[in-house]
Amino acid sequence: HCCRLIVMHEKVRINSADVKYTEKHIESRYCYHTASVRRDGDTFTVTPSSTEFIFRTERKVPRLGVMLVGWGGNNGTTVTAAVLANKLGLTWKTKTGLKKANYYGSLLESSTVCLGSSPDGEVYAPFRDLLPMVHPNDIVFDGWDISSLDLGRAMERAQVLDWSLQEKLWPHMSQLKPRPSVYIPEFIAANQEHRADNLIRGSKAEQVAQIRRDICDFREKSGVDKVLVLWTANTERFCDVIPGVNDTAENLLNSIQMGREVSPSTMFAVASVLEGCAYINGSPQNTFVPGAVDLALQRGVFIGGDDFKSGQTKLKSVLVDFLVSTGIKPTSIVSYNHLGNNDGLNLSALQQFRSKEISKSNVVDDIVQSNPVLYRPREKPDHCVVIKYVPYVGDSKRAMDEYTSEIMMGGTNTMALHNTCEDSLLASPIILDLVILTELCQRITFCTQDDPVFQGFHSVLSLLSFLCKAPLVPQGAPVVNAFFRQRACIENVMRACLGLPPQNHMQLEHKMT
Ligand code: NAI
Repeated sequence: HCCRLIVMHEKVRINSADVKYTEKHIESRYCYHTASVRRDGDTFTVTPSSTEFIFRTERKVPRLGVMLVGWGGNNGTTVTAAVLANKLGLTWKTKTGLKKANYYGSLLESSTVCLGSSPDGEVYAPFRDLLPMVHPNDIVFDGWDISSLDLGRAMERAQVLDWSLQEKLWPHMSQLKPRPSVYIPEFIAANQEHRADNLIRGSKAEQVAQIRRDICDFREKSGVDKVLVLWTANTERFCDVIPGVNDTAENLLNSIQMGREVSPSTMFAVASVLEGCAYINGSPQNTFVPGAVDLALQRGVFIGGDDFKSGQTKLKSVLVDFLVSTGIKPTSIVSYNHLGNNDGLNLSALQQFRSKEISKSNVVDDIVQSNPVLYRPREKPDHCVVIKYVPYVGDSKRAMDEYTSEIMMGGTNTMALHNTCEDSLLASPIILDLVILTELCQRITFCTQDDPVFQGFHSVLSLLSFLCKAPLVPQGAPVVNAFFRQRACIENVMRACLGLPPQNHMQLEHKMT
């Protein structure tokens, strides 16, 4: 397959003795600065330290195949259609004029980073040009769905894209058919049953074996070099974590053999990891039971999640970050949603709503805990999340939020927000960022002075936190929800791969006389 790998022409080249370009790698020498802190009452002793790293990024970009679980859903069809439309350079007319395919909403494709200054001022480059990475137009999609509709008809059912665009995409989309999938009725809402006409039969062990065969079949027939699997199927109820059943990799594999309770999303995770494919969970349920994490660690395969951070929660992780970091104290956050797509229908069932509620609830925790001036230990703002199913609004989700905060001298500040947009058009670029970033991370290794053996990132890929409502992190690692810190993390890790210091925004050169 090697001959298919594409050597990228790097648009950003570093001119430094710390960075070298070999045939295979970009290799950078990087000094990582941290500090350890000793706290004594209200005094802090801070000891800076630094570690020298070497980062290596493979320059050859593979042909990437992405298999979506829930391919026939609103997100699955929308992301596939969007990539096709971009690849074909499609334009289409609506009542407000000519529209052109784009990747707005993708961090990598449509946002920029500041590289430094030139005589004309600061220079920004597209995020995607920092390191060699897969272009979304080159991704080959495949996937599974319990509903047998081809992607043309599924796109029509989703009611997301303009009709004239759908007509142009129809000949391509209608050729694509989701593979049969695993359906265990108790995990998703009973109201989904009528969709389930495309199923893998047999025992759990046979079903996992079939998923593995599907992955191999796709890899062979499409000729892609690498496959990633991403769950964008319905939200499942939470799974009980039970010692002996799903607490270790061995017990989980055994439970699949014995036909004990294992959710479909966990079965997909196991099959992917066993095939050496990274697995990302875009829904809120606890797919990654300890046994699934354990298996990924044993096999050295990336897992990431949970739950795409697309709209209301993303804004929450911006607003609360802004309030708390300016010294204002949010005391009550109330969030209503109503939506009318199939996701909304599924979430109208109690157990599936509960998964979403949990995922949406913890997003302010780290921000609140970071400020002991405003909050006592364990004190939290009131935080309430409501989701209602209103068929008429379809995929055009409405989110209404009220933030009440305490300001100076007993004052209060209440902000009310109303947010409307097509949910799947926010989630689709996030799906692309998730898979492109994960693939890039598979090509990055590093070593330190103390440990000169090159290693990759931890199997639990916390770098994806920016894109997830309930970030999965390695055991014991802090969870970061705060938006700007998450973004800075991705940017600065990529800069480290180029031997560039973290973006510091100090602009000292403009602060001198
Ligand atoms: P959808 O209901 O339109 O699509 C889900 C698809 O999964 C359906 O086609 C369904 O038939 C299929 N499905 C259900 N169980 C399956 C299984 N076991 N195997 C294979 N396919 C299965 O929902 P939508 O809007 O595409 O959202 C997908 C998921 O992404 C939901 O869990 C949602 O909560 C989550 N999500 C969506 C966000 C957004 O902005 N659209 C944001 C955050 C999360």
